[in-house]
Amino acid sequence: MSQPPKGTRDLLPEIWAPYQRVLEAFEASLTEYNYNMVELPLFESTQVYARSLGEGTDISKEMYTFEDRNGDSFSLRPEGTAGLVRAYISAGLSQHKAAKWAYAGPMFRYERPQKGRYRQFYQLGVEALGYASASDDVEVLDLAHRFLSRLGLAGGLTLEINSLGDEPSRKSHLQALVDYFSGCKDQLSQESQTRLKINPLRILDSKQQEDQALLEKAPVIQDYFTPAAKEHFDQVLKGLTELGLPYTVNPRLVRGLDYYHHTVFEFTTRDLGSQNAVLSGGRYDGLVEVLGGKPTPAVGWAAGWDRLALLLGPEEARSLRCAVLPLDKGLELKALKVAQRLRRAGQSVEIISSGNMSKKLKRANSLGAQYALMFGTEEAQSDQILLKNLKSGEQKTLTLEEAAQEIAGE
Ligand code: HAM
Repeated sequence: MSQPPKGTRDLLPEIWAPYQRVLEAFEASLTEYNYNMVELPLFESTQVYARSLGEGTDISKEMYTFEDRNGDSFSLRPEGTAGLVRAYISAGLSQHKAAKWAYAGPMFRYERPQKGRYRQFYQLGVEALGYASASDDVEVLDLAHRFLSRLGLAGGLTLEINSLGDEPSRKSHLQALVDYFSGCKDQLSQESQTRLKINPLRILDSKQQEDQALLEKAPVIQDYFTPAAKEHFDQVLKGLTELGLPYTVNPRLVRGLDYYHHTVFEFTTRDLGSQNAVLSGGRYDGLVEVLGGKPTPAVGWAAGWDRLALLLGPEEARSLRCAVLPLDKGLELKALKVAQRLRRAGQSVEIISSGNMSKKLKRANSLGAQYALMFGTEEAQSDQILLKNLKSGEQKTLTLEEAAQEIAGE
C-alpha cells in the first residue's frame, strides 16, 4: 500500500523537472513544423487496438484490458497512434483532409519493469495524416531531429532506418521468411517457433541467442522490394542526406507493431542499457482504412518521454529567485504583501516564516534562492529591507522598491 503499483512511478518535482524541459522543447518544435496538440481518451474500445496493432505483437499481449459495468471491453491505451486515427475518423476528417496532430501523455503496457521501461510510461508523439510522399517522411524525421537537438541529445543518438516495403513486397518477403525458417525450424528458439506460426516477421525481432546465427542469413526485405517501394525508400534516404540528417540503414529493423509499411525508424542510444530506443515510428498508410476510414496515407513517431528525461538527468525542480524572511512574529501579512509585489513582477518567491533567523536562511539556501529579503517590525515600519545575495554573500539595506529592482536584475 505504501508503494506505487509495480511499473509505475511517482514523478515528484526533481524527477518531473526534466520532463518539463522535454515538453517545452517538444512544443517549441511543433510550432516550427505547424503541428497542433490534441488530448484524447486514455482508453478506447479494445477493438481499436486489436485491429491496429496486429495479432501476436508483444504490445497487443501487454494491454490492460477490462470490462466496464456494462460488459463492454476497453483497454488502456498502449500507444497513441491507434486512438488518434480513431479520433481523426470520428471527426469525419478522413475525406481527404490532412491533419498534423501531436500528443503528450501516459501509455500503459504490462511489461517487465526495468530502468527506462515502465508499465505506465509517457510518450510525446506526432502524426501527419493525409501525407503520402517520401518528403513527408523526411519532414517528420527532420522534426524529430530538431526536437532532439533542442535537448542537446541528437549528437549521442543514432537514427536507424529501414523500409518494410509495400503490400506486395511484404507478401513475397513473408513467404520467403516462412520458407527459410521452416527449413531450420528445429534450430529456432521456442519463442521463435511460436512466432513462426502466428507472426513470422516478429522472428526478426528476436533477442534469443540461439536465433542470431539464423537471423544473419534470413532473407531481407530489400531483396523483395517492388520498384515503387524501392523508389520511396531511395527518396527518403536522399532527402535525409540533402537535409544533413545522419542515419544508418538497419535492414533488420522491423518494429513491434503491424501497421507499418515503407519507412520505419528508431533513434537509439547506448546510454540506457537494453532500453535503447528513445524515439520511433514510421509510415502506416493502411491504418485509417483498417479502422473504418477512407484510405489515408500517414506517417508519425512517438518519443519515450521517460527515456529522454532519464538521459537529461534529475534537475533542480525550479529556480527560486527570492526568499522573503519576516524576522518577527505578526509580520505574515506584510510578508505576503512584499511577496505579492515581487510576484506581480514575475519573480518566483517563497515566504519562510518558521524558525529563527539562521534556520530561515538555511532553508532559503536549501531551496536554492538567489536572494533573501529580510525585515523585522521596525524595518517594516520604516520601509527598510535587508537584501542579501545568497550566492555572493553581499547584503544591503534598501527600500522595497529598490530591492524589487535589484531582484529583477535592473
Ligand atoms: P513504440 O516503439 O512502441 O511505438 O513506442 C515509442 C517509444 O515509446 C519507444 O521508442 C520508447 O522510447 C517508448 N516506450 C515504449 N514502451 C515503453 C515502456 N514500457 N516504458 C518506457 N518507454 C517506452 C509506438 O508507440 C508508435 N505508436 C509510434 C508511432 C507513432 N508510429 C507512428 N506514429
